[in-house]
Amino acid sequence: MEIQEIALDELKPQRFIADKVREISAVVGDQMAINALSGGIDSAVVTMLGHRALGDRLRTCFIDSGLMREKEPERVVSLFKELGVPVDLIDAHETFFGALKDKTDPEEKRQAITRSFYGGVFARLVRETGAKYLLQGTNYTDIEETVAGIKRQHNILEQLGINPEESYGYRVIEPLIQLRKPAIRKLGQSLGLPQEIHNRPPFPGPALAARVIGEVTPDRVRLVRSATTIVEEELSRSGAFQYLAILHEDRVTGMRDGKRDYGFQVEVRCWESTDAKTGSATRLPFEVLERLAGRITAELPGVVSVTYNITKKPPSTIEAI
Ligand code: XMP
Repeated sequence: MEIQEIALDELKPQRFIADKVREISAVVGDQMAINALSGGIDSAVVTMLGHRALGDRLRTCFIDSGLMREKEPERVVSLFKELGVPVDLIDAHETFFGALKDKTDPEEKRQAITRSFYGGVFARLVRETGAKYLLQGTNYTDIEETVAGIKRQHNILEQLGINPEESYGYRVIEPLIQLRKPAIRKLGQSLGLPQEIHNRPPFPGPALAARVIGEVTPDRVRLVRSATTIVEEELSRSGAFQYLAILHEDRVTGMRDGKRDYGFQVEVRCWESTDAKTGSATRLPFEVLERLAGRITAELPGVVSVTYNITKKPPSTIEAI
């Protein structure tokens, strides 16, 4: 792999920022560029670098795939507005749910999301704006895992032999490709991003679809979204690296109001990790686990089983698909 990692202790944030701002300006010249902001640290840092380099020649879009967490699209757009960065909110629910219909295989689901994102929504935005460049926050871990064949990270194109210029009509600029998450968080701090963004737990590009086993339908996403809200409320003070809820495909027998209830299963994961490359389960107090199970089964109709996953990564991965 010819991309050289810049380790956290080697990173000089101000110098890195100045170099990347210069590089982005030089590459884009007087053309238009576009980027997608998800609110995660990677895309937030890229947005700030891009705005410093290009000002209003960068169009930043939040693509609402219908797979995001509760109120996430509105929240991210208003937060960046406060930072002086205008963000267009694009409703793309139909494109994504259309592409995910009837798909149950994890790789096919990831592929459907990649295609909807780059080939569908983005290609259309690029045509509309005349942008020649796409700025994105691919990081070193994404490349490593994709090249190793562990998972196709949805933002990797060239490493998979996809030429975005030929396939979709734009070139990709990836300023964070040499960094892992801790280094990207440090950059976020130097760029003046609020705590809420630079300390935010990672969230995957395929969003809640990475947490739905089996078909990703609007109803199943709604269920995992509500479970996610509960898990985030209960575990945000745990200090863990990442915590999430997963919706299983199989139903199990449970009982409610003295009657048999054949219902859904939700799995909770809470990870200790520094770089997402390896991880282990947080030793959560039993009361916290009980509260999670109690709230999820009481607040989400149809859920009769809540489990806590204690497997390490590897062999597990952090997300479910
Ligand atoms: P896994 O599940 O591969 O996740 O152990 C490692 C870290 O990456 C996040 N993740 C993704 N991020 N696109 C992303 O931008 C993706 O396709 C993707 N899949 C997983 C995951 O949340 C974890 O922090």
